[in-house]
Amino acid sequence: MAPFPGPRRTLRIMAQEAPTDIHSSLNETRIFHPQDAKCAGFDRWHISSLTEYKDLHERSVADPEAFWRAEAARLDWFTPFTHVLEWTPPDAKWFVGGSLNACYNCVDRHVQAGHGDETAIIWEGEPKGAHTSHSSSFSHYAAEPEILELTYRELQSQTSRVANMLKSLGVKKGDVVTIYMPMVPELAVAMLACARIGAAHSVIFGGFAHTAIAERVIDAHSRVIITADGGYRRGDIVPLLKNVEEAVELLDSHGHILNHVLCLKRTAQQPPSQRFHTGERRFNNTRFHWWHDLAPTVTDACPCEPMDSEDMLFLLYTSGSTGKPKGIQHTTAGYLAHVQMTARLAFNLIPDSGQLFWCSADIGWVTGHSYVVYGLLMNRVPTLMYEGAPNAPSNDRFWEIIARHKVTHFYTAPTAIRTFMKWGNELPAKHDLSSLKLLGTVGEPINPEAWIWYHEHIGGKRCPIVDTYWQTETAGHICTPLPGAIATKPGSCTLPMLGIDAAVVNESGHELPANKGGLFVIRKPWPGMLRGVYHNRERFVSNYWGRVKDPATGQPYYFSADGARRDSDGYYWIQGRIDDVIKVSGHLLGTMEVESALVSHPSVAEAAVVGYPHEIKGNAICAFVTLKSRWFSEHAGRQPDDEMRKELASHVTKEVGALARPDTIRFAEALPKTRSGKIMRRLLRDVACGVEKITQDTTTLEDFTVVAKLRADEE
Ligand code: WTA
Repeated sequence: MAPFPGPRRTLRIMAQEAPTDIHSSLNETRIFHPQDAKCAGFDRWHISSLTEYKDLHERSVADPEAFWRAEAARLDWFTPFTHVLEWTPPDAKWFVGGSLNACYNCVDRHVQAGHGDETAIIWEGEPKGAHTSHSSSFSHYAAEPEILELTYRELQSQTSRVANMLKSLGVKKGDVVTIYMPMVPELAVAMLACARIGAAHSVIFGGFAHTAIAERVIDAHSRVIITADGGYRRGDIVPLLKNVEEAVELLDSHGHILNHVLCLKRTAQQPPSQRFHTGERRFNNTRFHWWHDLAPTVTDACPCEPMDSEDMLFLLYTSGSTGKPKGIQHTTAGYLAHVQMTARLAFNLIPDSGQLFWCSADIGWVTGHSYVVYGLLMNRVPTLMYEGAPNAPSNDRFWEIIARHKVTHFYTAPTAIRTFMKWGNELPAKHDLSSLKLLGTVGEPINPEAWIWYHEHIGGKRCPIVDTYWQTETAGHICTPLPGAIATKPGSCTLPMLGIDAAVVNESGHELPANKGGLFVIRKPWPGMLRGVYHNRERFVSNYWGRVKDPATGQPYYFSADGARRDSDGYYWIQGRIDDVIKVSGHLLGTMEVESALVSHPSVAEAAVVGYPHEIKGNAICAFVTLKSRWFSEHAGRQPDDEMRKELASHVTKEVGALARPDTIRFAEALPKTRSGKIMRRLLRDVACGVEKITQDTTTLEDFTVVAKLRADEE
């Protein structure tokens, strides 16, 4: 893309007030204008000018029902819906009366239309060299590295077989199946198999530890877990089955009855322990099933269950500002309509045009759900899945993958881009990245330096970059450039998606003038919106709908918990979360979640966790910890030291997972509190960022009394 020298203007990049921002010293932005399609390697754009976008957007918000009716017509229905929307704030029902099936829309309809032999998924495993351990019925692995291609027909037969396996384990329409797997194609197959029979899936990221698994299984009332013996990650094996075993012990001790564990053999390194077979632990042979044992016992014919538009498609747990993760509920028709539209338009997906899309996110996060699996399969553009880490075996693995498979679309997170920058320009330069036509980012604000680097060193200055802003709760993109229509400014997610009525407002719901920071809201319902927090009506209402109202009608607006501003061109600049949730390496973490893990350690009396800016990860975690006096008496003369820090960090890793491991642990005699007893987080954030000068030596024990007294009146 030709950099447009164009009007240079001074813009404040991501308001300084927002503590979670990537601080950027850039005080000017460049504008990159959409280029003609040929130049970027596309045959055509779905939307090819700003005027066209503006016209479509205006109409989509003025008459959302007409817009979404047309989008829903791109799906295949068993029964047509009778009306588009029933809206009783905050409850929406979309495509009322219709029935359809998500797996049918991703797989079967393509087979029926004669595309059965086309590639649906290309998968590359992390290890290089022949591996024979993978036990599924896929047989055609190449030796170096492991590569697998699945056609729509194979996907249909695999999902049907797994659907029948689930049925044979008693899974029924409406049940919730937990999936805890590595990034192998069977993970996508398992999700689609659930959808096929009308069971909702709840995918848990493979980096979570046993406590986090058990908590989610209990909350979801889930009776079946699909897992694998292990997964490859950075040359190591992640002991997934061992984590599940530990989770099952916890479940047993909580009286939660887990009926079955279905386990894929991926690494052959983690045989199920005796624990699975001892009757008194209730996790016996009848509860444990190898995937490869069960597969031959069923057929590969299984019809797609007609599902009501509003039947739940999946649950996905996300962090909230309280310690407990929230089970975000998405329904079938609304999710599919929103995700197929956003994938098609934001990435300009065109079937049969040689496109290959690679989203590097793990399927355990919403990005993987929407833009590794559903959005791509629905649009019949092949999706690439990679099992492992970007630095396995060397730091250029991603560029090697792009060159090997001739990837045309690459979608990743700013934190990854910053890591690539650190690893050096020569790594991408070693590989032929000329197949790339479009780049995307997601997950957090991208700092302009990283944007420009991505543009130059990965996109070869010719690929449009779509900076897509959205959330687990929104199902798909909310603000994003449309590559043929909307000029980009590094660091801005530009303009709202079609059908999305976005605004930046103040607490009383009034829209703010240009360049004033405020709350990011969506004023009208859209099909992909979450339908609830599982079994927690109160949290659904208060978290998302209780804060901001339409000042004229009193109807609630959807509040994203993000701060944002719009510039004078109407472009959105997301400033980050305004609640106690932090983004670490692109992953959401509730500070309370980490605090709960810390206080579950027997020596910890109290803990407070805050984020502070980190060059690569976006944010790092700083934990302030007060130890119990017993610890001091038991360790006479010892001050809390690095050994104790290590112990606490490992404890958090064990409880929640490595992504929650604090980067810094600081010990305090007491935590600073307001008179009403609330921890003064802003003060702690300042301390963590190094803003506040503590009058005493801060290396061992912090004494917050001085600063706390100074600040107490402000809070
Ligand atoms: C942040 C990830 C700025 C935001 C899809 C949001 C972003 C949270 C962007 C949701 C972006 C996501 N620019 N901020 N392009 N994309 N965010 O649920 O704070 O894991 O609320 O969904 O990520 O994170 P989640």
